[in-house]
Amino acid sequence: MRRGTRGSGRGDCLSPCNPAPFDNPLDFIAEEHLRERQICAQIEHIASDERPASFDVEHVLSFLDSEYGDHMRDETQELFPLLLERCEPEDDIGHVVERLNVDYAGAGKLVARVSRILRACLTRTYDLSRTDRKVLLSFVAHARRHLIVENAIVLPLARARLSGEDLAAFRLHILRRRGFVPHE
Ligand SMILES: [Fe+2]
Repeated sequence: MRRGTRGSGRGDCLSPCNPAPFDNPLDFIAEEHLRERQICAQIEHIASDERPASFDVEHVLSFLDSEYGDHMRDETQELFPLLLERCEPEDDIGHVVERLNVDYAGAGKLVARVSRILRACLTRTYDLSRTDRKVLLSFVAHARRHLIVENAIVLPLARARLSGEDLAAFRLHILRRRGFVPHE
C-alpha cells in the first residue's frame, strides 16, 4: 500500500491516486476529481508562463497519457452504465449521462491537442503561442464544467442508488484496470 490506510484512502492529489486503500470506489473517483482539479490549476499556470518548467509539463503529460484515460474508462464503461441501470425514472439520469459521454468524446480531441502543445514545450526552443494558450485554457474550462456535473449529480446519485455488490464490482474493475488485480 503506497499511502493512506484502507478505508478513506485520502492522499495529497499531487501524485497519481492509489485505488487500493479505498473501500468505496466512489471515494476513489472523488479523490481523482480533486487530482484533476490540481492538474487544471497546473495547466493554467503553464498557460500563463513564458517558459513553463519542464517538471510541470511532464507531470501534466503523464496525467493525460495514463490517469485521464483510466478515469474516463472507469466512468464511461462502468459507472455510467451502472447508474443507468440502477437509477429511478425520477432521477432523470439519462440525459446527464448522455451529455457526459458526448463531453468525453469531445475531450479526446482536445486532450490530443493539449498533449501536442505540451510535448512541443519540452523541446525548450518552443514558445507558447496565443492559440496554444487558448487551447490549454479551453481544456481547463471543459474539465471543470465536467467535474461540476459529476460531483454535483453523478456521485451523489451513485452513492444513493448503487448496491454494495455494484460498488464491489466497480472497485474490482478499477483495481484491474490499474494492474492491482490480475485480469481473469
Ligand atoms: Fe470523473
